[in-house]
Amino acid sequence: MSNPRDVAVLVGSLRKESLNLKLAKALVTLAPPQLKLDIVEIRQLSIYNQDGDENPPAEWLAFRDRIRKADAVLFVTPEHNRSVPAALKNAIDVGSRPYGQSAWDGKPGGVISASPGAVGGFGANHHLRQSLVFLNIPVLQQPEAYISGVDKLFDAQGGIVSESTRGFLSKYLTAFASWVERNAAG
Ligand code: FNR
Repeated sequence: MSNPRDVAVLVGSLRKESLNLKLAKALVTLAPPQLKLDIVEIRQLSIYNQDGDENPPAEWLAFRDRIRKADAVLFVTPEHNRSVPAALKNAIDVGSRPYGQSAWDGKPGGVISASPGAVGGFGANHHLRQSLVFLNIPVLQQPEAYISGVDKLFDAQGGIVSESTRGFLSKYLTAFASWVERNAAG
């Protein structure tokens, strides 16, 4: 079998006990052999400011390089005030510049949102998709992934307690693996 595709996983929460981080870690273990999921840190990124383009901070450059190296990107995010958390939007902005040199261009992508609430972060999921259209990230359309009740999803070891949700996430990752293959560069 060829090498697994390198998937950069971006988690939209900086919280130590983040439920979305737990979900991302669970996804790492559920990934099919065609994918290798790697959680890429975004907390070190200072707020994007175009003035920084002349002399960019080292962490912006390292982040852009990491995204360029990836075969695909998977966003796992909470919803903040019915939209994308600022830290994740900042990472997207940092990766998108300087103009004409976006690290995101053409990378196949996926979006999973999760919330303790019933709507599963739908607002964040779809606001995020708006940016991804502009960034030319072809995003998996189906299945959609809005994970509700995420505060009740994990046991003390971070395992997923709901068999149906575990099954759904495995199905999502299988569809994502096909999507990545279909949209792979070159
Ligand atoms: C929230 N939360 C939230 N939940 C939701 O379903 N819709 C929303 O619009 C918001 N808005 C919101 C704003 C801000 C500033 C915070 C801090 C939180 C609740 C949120 O879903 C909950 O705190 C999750 O646990 C956050 O995800 P992590 O940090 O656990 O991954």
